[in-house]
Amino acid sequence: MRKYKIAVMPGDGIGPEVVKQAVKVLDKVGTKCGFLLEYCYADIGGVAIDKTGEPLPEETVQICKGSDAVLLGAVGGYKWDDLPGDKRPEAGLLGIRSKLELFANYRPAVIYQPLRDASPLKDRITRDGLDILVLRELTGGIYFGEKKRFIDDQGFAVAFDTMIYRKFEVERIARLAFEAARLRNGKVTSVDKANVLEVSRLWREIVIEVARDYPDIELNHMFVDNAAMQLVIHPEQFDVIVTGNMFGDILSDEASMLTGSIGMLPSASLGSGSLGLYEPVHGSAPDIAGQNKANPLAAILSVAMMLRYSFKLEQASKMIEDAVLQVLNDGQMTGDIATKEAKVIGCEEMGDAVAERI
Ligand code: IPM
Ligand code: MG
Repeated sequence: MRKYKIAVMPGDGIGPEVVKQAVKVLDKVGTKCGFLLEYCYADIGGVAIDKTGEPLPEETVQICKGSDAVLLGAVGGYKWDDLPGDKRPEAGLLGIRSKLELFANYRPAVIYQPLRDASPLKDRITRDGLDILVLRELTGGIYFGEKKRFIDDQGFAVAFDTMIYRKFEVERIARLAFEAARLRNGKVTSVDKANVLEVSRLWREIVIEVARDYPDIELNHMFVDNAAMQLVIHPEQFDVIVTGNMFGDILSDEASMLTGSIGMLPSASLGSGSLGLYEPVHGSAPDIAGQNKANPLAAILSVAMMLRYSFKLEQASKMIEDAVLQVLNDGQMTGDIATKEAKVIGCEEMGDAVAERI
């Protein structure tokens, strides 16, 4: 029987509770489809800091490198907010993405019909649904450029971060955007700030160059401020949005909220091989942690992405997505997405409900 080795990093806040439900669903799919799953748990973020003093212990990196895929909950919380930048939980997350060279972050924002009422957008905008893929460059740009804090010679406190992209970094993410569009609706919107930033002008030139290999794909360019606006007035114009690390971080939160709740948005981070890191986009939500209130669907849908992208198990992946849709259609929802008629259930019950339908 085929066996897959999965590194599991529950992390902080609601991370552990949503990951538990995702593992439950994964086990059920494995049983149904006849493959074995072996889990190896590792620490990242705040829990890792508490145990080892480091947000990303070397042991964790090795466990991830020795796996077929990685499942992550979330990192961060009030407790670690005052630590210096490189010792914060978030540094663990940025670190593992970088160490595994996962430069491409896929964040699909889809409106599920039963959740149409949960979207903050007017019905006339969401009537025909919404299906946008935000493809965020994940290991470059301003999150990884040189940064410094110092006192200048006049005694003023100064800080800087540097936005930097190399040609090959833009090329490879652009290529993936066109490839993704081919399997979708054939349209790529590259988002930049080329009216101001030199990095963006380089970005745009390279995207145009790569586009020559994809004459079947429609390409357009948009400034990031305009893109933020277009997402709320005409989201239906987007198919694949490809953009740099910071713009992608911001726009993917916006796109996710259009679907009703950030609690619904899964993500896949991939590099050039099949090893991928799968995580919900929502973060650690320390205010509701441990209360069985969190929505595990983003984590569960992340596992569906794992089956599709890392293991090429399309049918098994689809089983999870169909089960999620069924639960929503049956009106069972966690508090964050609950429509008027919904029966509100907790995190654990949501995991059970999805697993039962597989
Ligand atoms: C995300 C998060 C992270 C990021 C943080 C927690 C470092 O916001 O995955 O979008 O900025 O990438
Ligand atoms: Mg973010």
